[in-house]
Amino acid sequence: MQNLIRNFFIALSTNKFLNKKARKWGFRLGAEKFVAGTDIDSVTLTIKKMNAQGISCTVDNLGEFVSDKEEAGKAKKQIINMLEKIHQEKLDCHISVKLTQLGLDIDRDFCLGNMREILDAAAKYCIFINIDMEDYAHFQPTIDILKLLLKDYQNVGTVIQSYLRCAEEVLDKLPNVRIRIVKGAYKESPAVAFQSKTEIDQNFLKLAKKRLLGNTFTSIATHDHRIIGQLKKFIQENNIPKDRFEFQMLYGFQQEMQYELANEGYQMTTYMPFGRDWFGYYMRRLAERPQNINLLIKDVFRLTRKNLS
Ligand code: FDA
Repeated sequence: MQNLIRNFFIALSTNKFLNKKARKWGFRLGAEKFVAGTDIDSVTLTIKKMNAQGISCTVDNLGEFVSDKEEAGKAKKQIINMLEKIHQEKLDCHISVKLTQLGLDIDRDFCLGNMREILDAAAKYCIFINIDMEDYAHFQPTIDILKLLLKDYQNVGTVIQSYLRCAEEVLDKLPNVRIRIVKGAYKESPAVAFQSKTEIDQNFLKLAKKRLLGNTFTSIATHDHRIIGQLKKFIQENNIPKDRFEFQMLYGFQQEMQYELANEGYQMTTYMPFGRDWFGYYMRRLAERPQNINLLIKDVFRLTRKNLS
């Protein structure tokens, strides 16, 4: 049953029609709990509140199904504007980007050019740029672009998904690159990805421990309190310095645990999505945690009552 629900929401997340419609609706269906703002100014206010609690942020300008160069150019401009804002307001914040939003499906060199412009602007202010990992169809193209960028930039890294069978092999080839480890959010075939939670969790622990024993900064991105508990124990037993890693969680998830980790002296970073393109992102979050469907149901009832009265 859980798999059916997961597949249903992942299918919704890729529905172009609904994604387009949702841009016009504004935040609906409970999405405001997980999306940190509609524009640069509103997300800046939320970042300031998180920073005041000792929590760092990574912002993601939401955008799905970018199909022409003009749209990709606008996304690049918005990211550069966000960089300026981070600098001006002295926010404790870096940026997460998705290569499809910057034109990966349109023209690889065009996407590479957009990334170079973003990295030049970010380097000026010493801001790190993380390339989020999308579905497996984009995995190798993303790694290829990252490798080209690494020849000229140090302020760039990416994400490795523990559900991928090739995750450890790829991670081993990126020993000096800042990496975020996640479980993986897309539906992938058994040929390329582990399907059982046990295997995905075991691989997550294996990858995280391996990286923690190395010298390069690692972001451990999960809401899984069992995994976090096991890694905290591992960190203490191996005297791993707290400046060599951070925990990351999504905005609106496990908020209390985020504050607790920050209060315990761990580096804690919250992933803050913002913008009008919330639908696909929100549906992927519902796929991961069907308990959140009650937010969606409450909103549908609220809207129905409003329309009837
Ligand atoms: P999982 O969903 O397996 O949950 C494990 C357990 O944690 C649950 O059983 C429950 O006990 C507890 N739990 C989880 N959420 C909870 C909640 N809200 N409240 C209470 N308990 C909760 N994916 C991707 O493919 N590419 C990417 O670039 C990224 N980027 C990214 C950044 C950041 C900062 C995060 C946190 C995640 C991503 N992801 C991602 C998403 C990631 O791949 C994954 O889908 C989600 O993090 C969900 O998996 P969890 O590790 O949280 O555990």
